[in-house]
Amino acid sequence: MENERKLNLPEMGFGTFPQKEKLLESVPTAIKYGYRLIDTSDNYQNEEFVGEALKKIDSETLDEITVISKFSQPMRTYELEKCFDESKAKLNNKLNVYLLHWPFPFLWKEEWKRMENLYLSGKCDAIGVCNFEEKHLKKLFKFCRVKPMFNQFECHPTFQQKELINFCKDNGITVIAYSPLARLDKKTFANETLNSIAQKYNKTVGQIILRWHIEHGYKPIPSSSSEKHIAENHGILDFRLEQYDIERIDALECGNRVRFNPNTRFTFRQKVKFLLLRIINILKIDKILLDIKSMIKYPQASKQASKQASKQASKQASKQASKQASNK
Ligand SMILES: NC(=O)c1ccc[n+]([C@@H]2O[C@H](COP(=O)([O-])OP(=O)(O)OC[C@H]3O[C@@H](n4cnc5c(N)ncnc54)[C@H](OP(=O)(O)O)[C@@H]3O)[C@@H](O)[C@H]2O)c1
Repeated sequence: MENERKLNLPEMGFGTFPQKEKLLESVPTAIKYGYRLIDTSDNYQNEEFVGEALKKIDSETLDEITVISKFSQPMRTYELEKCFDESKAKLNNKLNVYLLHWPFPFLWKEEWKRMENLYLSGKCDAIGVCNFEEKHLKKLFKFCRVKPMFNQFECHPTFQQKELINFCKDNGITVIAYSPLARLDKKTFANETLNSIAQKYNKTVGQIILRWHIEHGYKPIPSSSSEKHIAENHGILDFRLEQYDIERIDALECGNRVRFNPNTRFTFRQKVKFLLLRIINILKIDKILLDIKSMIKYPQASKQASKQASKQASKQASKQASKQASNK
């Protein structure tokens, strides 16, 4: 089992959801303020804007940048490699880290094997997962050739996922924290402890939260479309939180999930679809169906062809007969 060809990510990254055209401005701005990690996904429908924005960056800086994208198309499980190529083309040929966006029921194991193929063939520098819980990772370890290098999931002071984080750390998996600012959720931003710590350090609540992520070794990927916030968020690398304050923030955990729960993310209908797709592929029913179809089509086609041939033949014969008659 491999996960030693480790890629070191910068301390924090730039989230791009839900921006689209705006990224043509915000990505270069983020890079100007020091971001060197950009997070996108095929289902944010913004990869082409990230790619377009990267065209404006000089080649030396571009070399320093790591781009993450994700596979989010369960109905295209069996062409995951093609999806990777499509994302990479949109991203101006810059796709370093590929993540499996969700543990898609019935499909994620097959998808992980395909992710491994991408990595082992050298098409990307690292692979990982998102929204995987301990139970998924334990199952994955049983069959994988390559361990995920990253797990990206929701994490912020009021929803910390400590057990999952410890499990990831024990298994050499780096944590990437999404919605690191809890999407400005009130329970988090209006919290008294966070506000008093912000006053103490003369920083904003957002900066205290992002610093807390970094003190713990998580990689936060805040998203912002405003230059002021982009600068503010990256301007946290010049101070440290005292252990006492880190522990006060640790104590704010209250199960306040603001995004999807991987266990309830998919509807019953979606799960049935995924299961059918898996069965169809295992039994190669799609191929059998195609064969049957062509078998049915073939006799029809040949009947038609022979009808046409005999029509033409009789036409020619009658033409020739009338020619012969007139010659006489
Ligand atoms: N893998 C997954 O399943 C998954 C799921 C969700 C998200 N993600 C990734 O994680 C990234 C970040 O997560 P997120 O967008 O959900 O939430 P977030 O980063 O916690 O919050 C983003 C919000 O915070 C605001 N903001 C940013 N900096 C601020 C500051 N200094 N002061 C005040 N407001 C500030 C932004 O508004 P402004 O634009 O006005 O600054 C935006 O509305 C996404 O962009 C995406 O790349 C991944």
